[in-house]
Amino acid sequence: MKHRHVIDLEDLTFSQLQQTIELAGKIKENPEKYSHVCDGKIMATLFYEPSTRTQMSFQTAMMRLGGKVIGFDNPQNSSVAKGESLKDTITVMSGYADIVAMRNPVEGSAKAASLYSGVPVINAGDGGHLHPTQTLTDVVTLSNEKGRLNHLKIGLCGDLKNGRTVHSLIKTMCHFEGNSFVLISTKDLRIPNYIKDIMDKSNCPYVEVDNLQDNISDLDVLYMTRIQRERFASPEEYEAQKGVYILDKEKMKNAKEDMIVLHPLPRVDEITVEVDDDPRACYFKQAVYGMYGRMALIMLLLEDKDYYFTNDVEKKTTEKCCSNPRCVVNQETYLPKHYYNKDNNIICDYCDHEI
Ligand code: CP
Repeated sequence: MKHRHVIDLEDLTFSQLQQTIELAGKIKENPEKYSHVCDGKIMATLFYEPSTRTQMSFQTAMMRLGGKVIGFDNPQNSSVAKGESLKDTITVMSGYADIVAMRNPVEGSAKAASLYSGVPVINAGDGGHLHPTQTLTDVVTLSNEKGRLNHLKIGLCGDLKNGRTVHSLIKTMCHFEGNSFVLISTKDLRIPNYIKDIMDKSNCPYVEVDNLQDNISDLDVLYMTRIQRERFASPEEYEAQKGVYILDKEKMKNAKEDMIVLHPLPRVDEITVEVDDDPRACYFKQAVYGMYGRMALIMLLLEDKDYYFTNDVEKKTTEKCCSNPRCVVNQETYLPKHYYNKDNNIICDYCDHEI
């Protein structure tokens, strides 16, 4: 059994990631050359959760490669509203389309969908778990705007606890030599321990601080994030955190001339509108780089079928339920309870929480 899904950016080997970044750059330089590579192919974009950039950039990516797009951006307009399971929706859609991009608020849902899909599934965000093509967007942006992916001092600011893009970016940038991180957040929104373990194992230095103004001056990159209202247990907890970090013109005065500001967007109030006119503000360009990154990924998945093939390891199954209430196995109860072992713990194969 083989698979060619992109659930996590770690599904790509390091050299595959580099090849995808390089191809994105080539497409950006000469888009015309690639405008028919997906002629006759169809992508299904299944968005169970709101999205502007990810959804539209997948759609425009496919169309700019010559392909066509079907799908929904509101499950209430599909048979999901009548109670159709994820398994049934994916099974049917993979009979219509050549490739599926899915966003779903349920953690582990992309991995679950991949079990029933005969075509590649790309995870376009599964709740607070993973968002691999945002990280691809970020590294394509860094590669083009900084000219390198190594020896960068990267500040990450805001919701480092719930920000899946932050976790994924750190994991990926740890693979490149000489990177270090300045983690700027309140105590309640600190980075999870498993990400600290990854930085430690990769010998990537990091510091945890709570002040943006005092720590901006020697950064090469500042990655701002939104305080994610939808991930908080109560409105009171969100209110206590919102508006703590605001990047404005005054703070930008302390930053290096070649520092760049990234943000996965959407923003709420964490970057003032006046910063948009600063040439170091790269977050709107970043959204465009995302389209080129997705074009490269779609092209490699569809054009070069052996490219992303890896041997599918046999899954181990348990009777125990995942302890994460947001995990897909607790909602789509027919799913086999797959797990893997890590550091003597039993880990859910869908959401990567301990069982
Ligand atoms: N960055 C990002 O995922 O944006 P959307 O939620 O608009 O897709």
